[in-house]
Amino acid sequence: MVDIHSHILPHIDDGSESMEDSIEMLENSIASGVDAIVATPHLYPGIYMAPTTYRDELLMELREEVKQRQLPIEIISGRESYLSPEIYDYEKELGKLTINDSGKYLLIEFPMQEIPEYAARMIFDIQVQGITPILAHIERYADIIINPNLALKYIEIGCLMQVNIGSIFGRYGNRIQQTTEILLAHQMVHIVASDMHSPNSMSLGEGFEALSEIVGLEEASCLVEDRPRAVIENRSVSFPEPLVYRPKRSFRNLWGLFSKPLPARDDW
Ligand SMILES: [Fe+2]
Repeated sequence: MVDIHSHILPHIDDGSESMEDSIEMLENSIASGVDAIVATPHLYPGIYMAPTTYRDELLMELREEVKQRQLPIEIISGRESYLSPEIYDYEKELGKLTINDSGKYLLIEFPMQEIPEYAARMIFDIQVQGITPILAHIERYADIIINPNLALKYIEIGCLMQVNIGSIFGRYGNRIQQTTEILLAHQMVHIVASDMHSPNSMSLGEGFEALSEIVGLEEASCLVEDRPRAVIENRSVSFPEPLVYRPKRSFRNLWGLFSKPLPARDDW
């Protein structure tokens, strides 16, 4: 399996706090069946701004440690870039932030509370540079939780969609778990990754069985192996047509149709 989203580099963001933690995270990943992992430290303007040279130093140190211990895992360069116009103040050539420095795939993160209006414009700017954006943990954004079909818009404009394995198990709460199931069942997810931040985080392979129960064995393999491997090898990714989610009308919703609207807050 290939894990394209992880915070395994020590001392660079809110992920691993030490080399020992990083090794434990890698060992957990290997035990779960992962043989390649992309280190994607945050690039978050004003908060996590470590330069690419520092990331590269840490990558080399971790690779050296892995070699010494003969751990069977490849560590690939990457970054989780927060989508805001300030990102260009940090790095004008976004290709330098792409997975495996290939200039092909960029893992991007939106603000959790609201997908900004400039998102579509920035995605277009990224695509013009020949880069395919991968939207990190789409199940965690409030706008997607409210309306899972919003994911269709981003798929249509050419983004790849990633969800976290922990979301299937409710690690981020019930609503995110439900949203993840909806997105998976409607083929709106292309890649599943761990987004591991510490040795307590779930490794990708730990969730494979649960994932298979939702999407079937074949698609589960595509989500954790075929497509993420294509990403690290700079190949194009194929996936099935997404399906529109049609929520069942619950009794409560029906009741809403016939009940009077609540008075405005000033009237309470
Ligand atoms: Fe992350």
